[in-house]
Amino acid sequence: MKNKTLWTDTEGKPIQAHGGMILQHKGIYYWYGENKDTETVNRHVDFIGISCYSSEDLENWRNEGIVLSPVVNNPAHMLYTKNICERPRVLYNKSTKQFVMYTHADTADYYYAGVNVAVAASPTGPFVWLKSFQPNRQDSRDMTLFQDLDGSAWLIHSANYNKTMNIARLSDDYLDVTGSYISIFQDQEREAPAIMYSHNRYYMITSGCSGWEPNPSLYGICDHLIGPWKLIDNPCTGPAYRTTFDGQGTCIFFVQNQPYVLLDHWHPDDLRSSAYSMLPIQISDNGGLKIEWQDETFFTNSKRREGTS
Ligand code: GAL
Repeated sequence: MKNKTLWTDTEGKPIQAHGGMILQHKGIYYWYGENKDTETVNRHVDFIGISCYSSEDLENWRNEGIVLSPVVNNPAHMLYTKNICERPRVLYNKSTKQFVMYTHADTADYYYAGVNVAVAASPTGPFVWLKSFQPNRQDSRDMTLFQDLDGSAWLIHSANYNKTMNIARLSDDYLDVTGSYISIFQDQEREAPAIMYSHNRYYMITSGCSGWEPNPSLYGICDHLIGPWKLIDNPCTGPAYRTTFDGQGTCIFFVQNQPYVLLDHWHPDDLRSSAYSMLPIQISDNGGLKIEWQDETFFTNSKRREGTS
């Protein structure tokens, strides 16, 4: 797929899954993201739903429709169309057999700063909203979820007006926080967290805080999820490495053992046309991360790559 373009689904329609994440479940990839297919006004779109696309090969994406719908008639509801619902993240809870979705929940002025929790029996929804809240009474803006090797789940969110990043343990059913959390990257003003475990370490890639405008990424490392975390460097190399290739990381996913980062290339004046990239993440022998720009990423069709088809 050509990077930094707006990819299309199996019906030829633009994929509306911005600020998204990719979940692998029973051999299928599910891509959840913000559907922004509506008019941009003052660099903002109404909340029109969270989309889901499914794929077996990461290249052909089937539109599974809106899996979390907006509430159109109740301004007091966090899913109200005029509110913010961003960065959906879904985990499967083996014990409850539920798919649990968290999103950034906010008012249009980004003042509320909390999360929405919704559940579904199937990865393609429909997700039923359960509640909105501020985790551990902390403000929460950009966020992600992470499932550790032992099945425990963690909410990683920008807090304290984006000055720190919190890592908060979720309850066993994933539906709540437990009161146990740490604050990392203090005063570093990081957001858009994307996390992975690889080579016996945890890695977190974050962006700086400049809204839709791209900025340098930084990655952090630690041996245990709850720290101590250490910020290392910008993992990007190649043209536009200082602006994350004019993008912002949103999630990390694995294909076999190879990690990839999914980027958003935001178009603030027409958000629905914002583009995507998927780039492999390299881990060097000393544990450093490197993300090199490449114009195209192929997951399948190796014949096409070799020019033999
Ligand atoms: C970015 C954030 C996006 C969106 C945007 C709004 O910093 O990563 O998810 O909230 O700000 O300006």
